[in-house]
Amino acid sequence: MSWQDYPKVELHLHLEGAAPADLIRRLAREKSVDIAGIFDERGHYSFDDFPDFLQVYEAATSVLKRPEDYARLTAAVLERSAEDGVIYTEAFISPDFCGGGDLAAWREYLHAIREAADRAEAAHGIIMRGIVTCIRHFGPYTARQIARCAAETAGDWITGFGMGGNETMGKQGDFAWSFDCAREAGLNLTTHAGEFAGPASVRQALDDLRVTRIGHGVRAVDDPALIDRLAEAGTVLEVCPGSNVALGLYPDLRAHPIAKLRKAGVKVTVSTDDPPFFRTSMSQEFAGLERAFGWDLTDFAVLNRTAVDAAFCDAATKDRLR
Ligand code: HPA
Ligand code: ZN
Repeated sequence: MSWQDYPKVELHLHLEGAAPADLIRRLAREKSVDIAGIFDERGHYSFDDFPDFLQVYEAATSVLKRPEDYARLTAAVLERSAEDGVIYTEAFISPDFCGGGDLAAWREYLHAIREAADRAEAAHGIIMRGIVTCIRHFGPYTARQIARCAAETAGDWITGFGMGGNETMGKQGDFAWSFDCAREAGLNLTTHAGEFAGPASVRQALDDLRVTRIGHGVRAVDDPALIDRLAEAGTVLEVCPGSNVALGLYPDLRAHPIAKLRKAGVKVTVSTDDPPFFRTSMSQEFAGLERAFGWDLTDFAVLNRTAVDAAFCDAATKDRLR
């Protein structure tokens, strides 16, 4: 079945990673930046593996130079998501790319993004909230500046703090200061863990960063005691099956552990991560899970409910999603 008309809630979307390739090409032309090498002959983003993906991602992001560019990006991303039936999306936004970690510049970018999100909500009904995100391979010192940006702009729109980037570099605990700073500012916490590193990384995320949600987390499947711990603690996994297959973690959806984790009592949700990079959408993710595991309306209603419960927005916003 087509899941396009089914209202969907998404918790794990990188704002720059959702940039349509056409928009990035247009911005590159306008600014005379040469990034032709990041696209294949059909105009799709092209990369070989995870480190290469991160480089292509940063090259694409390099054309987003001003707050107005982020306003255009936000409008394009939300229009696409709304067309795909997404009613709520939580987007990772990186002050590293929006003003280089400078607080005054970050405020300008955030203002432009929020205005564009408000316009998209008025036009298409889609609701967006932001999770300020540090980038692991930029190191713990840079992450502190990003956490300060997050703390200073925490509120009903910036509702969370997270970490993405290369999980194979350093330890989760290296970033504890930043997560403590964000927690003290009242922000909800999530980090990428158990994607390109194994169960130990997920344990560190729980012990050292004290997050309530985990980006991916799927590698926990290799550790039965950890599966039990996640289930008992009610930790929510932001699972991105299409992303995991596209980046080579699993050969296909049938080999993906989402069904096994769910059966073991772990709270799972479904997201796209970086949809044009991985040539996916929320409705395609749902269709893939229907094909691979026979999931139906009842299953997707549970996933959506889990996502609304775990969303970082306030109770009044959640009520509008139920
Ligand atoms: N993993 C880690 N960092 C990222 C990703 C991802 O899939 N996408 C954008 N930043
Ligand atoms: Zn991600």
